[in-house]
Amino acid sequence: MLFRQLFDAETSTYTYLVADPNAREAALVDPVLEQVERDLKLIRELGLTLKYCLETHVHADHITGTGKLRELTGCQGVVPVQAKAQCADHFIGHGETLQVGSITIEAIATLGHTDSHMSYRVHGDRVLTGDSLLIRGCGRTDFQSGDPGLMYDHVTQHLFTLPDETLVYPGHDYRGHTVSTIGEEKRWNPRFVDLQTGKLRSRESFIALMNSLNLPQPKKIQEAVPANEQCGQVAAAV
Ligand code: FE2
Repeated sequence: MLFRQLFDAETSTYTYLVADPNAREAALVDPVLEQVERDLKLIRELGLTLKYCLETHVHADHITGTGKLRELTGCQGVVPVQAKAQCADHFIGHGETLQVGSITIEAIATLGHTDSHMSYRVHGDRVLTGDSLLIRGCGRTDFQSGDPGLMYDHVTQHLFTLPDETLVYPGHDYRGHTVSTIGEEKRWNPRFVDLQTGKLRSRESFIALMNSLNLPQPKKIQEAVPANEQCGQVAAAV
C-alpha cells in the first residue's frame, strides 16, 4: 500500500492519499481546493488513477477539492449518508466498504462533530478520523448539528473498540502532531480521559466539558459550508 499524509498549512488540514501501486488505483480523503494541483501532480508522478475522493464530513473550515478533482479526473465523489451534498456520486453508510485495488476502506460512523460524519478504516491497520477523534483532542460539537453525546458514544463505541495498535490519522492538527494510536488516545486524550486516574470520563462529564469550550467561529465558515454542500463549487459573485 502507498499511504501519504499531505498538509494544508493555512487551515491545518490533512489530506490522505491511499493507493495500491500494483493496481495503480488511488483515493484521496478530504482534499482541499487550494491544494488540488499539488495532489494531482503527485498522483500523476506516481502513475496512479484517482478512483475516489472521500469526505469525512461537510467541512466548515476549508472548501473541498472534490468537485474540482472530479471535473479534472472523472473520479467519484463519496460523502457520508445524510450529508447535505446533493452533487455526490455516492453516499456511504456505516460498515460499507470500498476497494482501491487490493486495499479495503471501511466507513465507520463517528457522528457528533456534525450529524453526518464518517471515519475511514484503511487496510485494517489505520483509521482516518476526520474531525471526530483528534490527537489529544476532538472536533468541536457546537455548530453544524454537532452533538457531544453522540461524539462520546461513537468515539468510545466505534473507535476505542479497535485494536490498540491501530494508527490514528486525524483531519487536522494544530500542534505539530501527525499520527497517534487508539491505545495512546484511550490513555492520554484529555477530552475523553481523566488524566489523573487514566480512566474514561463519563458521558456527562464529556458533554459538560464540550459545552464549556466557547470556541470562536472558523474563519471560513460562511463560505465553506455552502460551497461544500455543492461539492466545492464556489458561488459566482453577483
Ligand atoms: Fe470539520
